[in-house]
Amino acid sequence: MMRSVLAGAVGAVLLAGFVGGAFAQDPLAVVDARRAALKQAGGAMKTLADHLKEGKGTAADVEKSVAVLRDVAGKIDGWWPKGTAVGVGNSEALPAIWEKPDEFKQKAEAFKTAVASLPADASDKAAFGKQLGAVGASCKGCHTAFRED
Ligand code: HEC
Repeated sequence: MMRSVLAGAVGAVLLAGFVGGAFAQDPLAVVDARRAALKQAGGAMKTLADHLKEGKGTAADVEKSVAVLRDVAGKIDGWWPKGTAVGVGNSEALPAIWEKPDEFKQKAEAFKTAVASLPADASDKAAFGKQLGAVGASCKGCHTAFRED
């Protein structure tokens, strides 16, 4: 009886660690991974803006960049375990992320909503440009409050 209770408890802890994913990881690795992904998002935004303004790149480049943004939007909620603020590696994540979790969540949601509305291709330049602007504003909205200058 005691044994099975204990085994259950150990199993639950292991499961929590597994389900927690990033939370079980080394903080430095979390910071590096999210920064690398956000840098990719920055590159994607530039590719899309250059395509719209200067006609650079192909439809495949646009598709790839939109996919990068969708990927980041799908992962962003899991990137902020406690203990990864400024001071850990190259982190520029302000403590406000953990002090004002509701506000931070709201910024993340605004970003996800904007990305979800981004057309998959830029054939309608006006529509694409408008939505790309909304995505850019959502990036900025979060950075202003939660990323170190
Ligand atoms: C919900 C908040 C939030 C949203 C939305 C967000 N970011 Fe960030 N971003 C951050 C935070 C916080 C950091 C600092 C992370 C760190 O240093 O660990 C950051 C860092 C970055 C970096 C620096 C990475 C590096 O290695 O120098 C870039 C580039 C970036 N974001 C681009 C973007 C782009 C582009 C978007 C929108 C497409 C975006 N971010 C959306 C919060 C956000």
